[in-house]
Amino acid sequence: MNYKAPRGTHDIFGLNVIRMNFLEQKAKEVFMRYGFVEIRTPMFEEAALFTRSLGQATDIVEKQMYIFEDRKKRKLALRPEGTASLTRAFIEHRMDISNPFGKFFYIGEMFRYERPQAGRYRQFHQIGAESFGNSAPAADAEIIILAQDLLVSMGVKEIKTHINSLGCKKCRFFFREALVEYFNSVQGLCLDCIKRLDKNPLRLLDCKIDFYKFNKVPRISSYLCNDCKDNFTLIQELLKSAGCDYVVDEKLVRGLDYYTRTVFEIKTNTTDSQDTLAAGGRYDNLVEEIGGQSTPAVGFALGSERVMLAVQDNVFFDSLKQYEKIFVAIADQELFNEAFSFAIRIIRKGLKGNKNISVFGPINNKSLTNQLKFADKIQVYKTIIFAKTEFKNGKVLIKNMKNNTQIETLLIDL
Ligand code: HAM
Repeated sequence: MNYKAPRGTHDIFGLNVIRMNFLEQKAKEVFMRYGFVEIRTPMFEEAALFTRSLGQATDIVEKQMYIFEDRKKRKLALRPEGTASLTRAFIEHRMDISNPFGKFFYIGEMFRYERPQAGRYRQFHQIGAESFGNSAPAADAEIIILAQDLLVSMGVKEIKTHINSLGCKKCRFFFREALVEYFNSVQGLCLDCIKRLDKNPLRLLDCKIDFYKFNKVPRISSYLCNDCKDNFTLIQELLKSAGCDYVVDEKLVRGLDYYTRTVFEIKTNTTDSQDTLAAGGRYDNLVEEIGGQSTPAVGFALGSERVMLAVQDNVFFDSLKQYEKIFVAIADQELFNEAFSFAIRIIRKGLKGNKNISVFGPINNKSLTNQLKFADKIQVYKTIIFAKTEFKNGKVLIKNMKNNTQIETLLIDL
């Protein structure tokens, strides 16, 4: 075959489907408890939505967007993240007026043209939440605690939450001036840094090439206005009172322009590749900037593939244990129809002793030995065998695949 999945994309099957479903199931449970409702937005949007929301001088907009023209020459982009799309939907459906306290979650594919490596792909999945309309520190604290709870419920161990405040427009203005002055004094900046210095000096703090040159770079904390300082203190008090661990990380600036005040990232020590599992923050100006009524907002997203790498497989398997795998086999081909209708009956109604079963078989034209080999391979717990002699007496054989024992049972007892 000449075709392969495009670089940086993956077919998700076998164990990975189990892992992915487990995360999504957990997410739905946790979001429900926190009062977030699901929203699904298109996988592509007008490209300008992302350029405007994320910022011209960000890595995503400069280098990573999949942009294409449709037949009517509209410029569209595969979504690189969910916040801009959700904000667009929030405004389009006039929720900024009818439902200004909307709390939404989303699960889906995102697309970024990045250099693929473990935990970094060109098509990946995010599970995220956005809370609109609440400017109180409690909304920031809720999102951070929710993100932590979600990762813990998914089986991630040793999480570390880094938080910072980027201040409001006012504080940012003075911080920006200080940064420009500082960066102008640094010799030998890389080309990206030189390009960004004018447009968005904050981005230089993220530079993977020059970062080691920035030892004496000004810190945002020295430029926060009193309101922003108080706000950051209140958020920390709420986190502490909820028993939530975090560290203040003054270097944390995030790679997207829409953030105001709180930003955070949650990392784990259990994997060394791409260790940021979840990230987010407040973006109080975005709704207004893209045409809605001024509405504060805060949110986060986690990367499902990164969480999958950080979680031990036994966590996923434990989630499956509630479903017992049953295989329906036939020792004699002429019993296929009876075995088939029995399989359908137990799929619909379960077995008398256990409703949570997952049923495989019967398979036509295979020897019993081959059927049992297959049952073993897919780790079946019990095989129910239809054989002529027993069936005449209304019975089947039940083979316990774990200890290899076999008993006869009346069909009506199953
Ligand atoms: P982000 O930091 O760009 O933020 O992405 C969030 C998470 O998505 C990352 O922490 C990571 O786990 C995962 N991720 C990002 N890029 C990739 C990739 N190429 N391959 C695999 N996983 C990846 C956002 O997207 C913001 N929209 C988060 C947010 C929501 N802020 C406010 N609300």
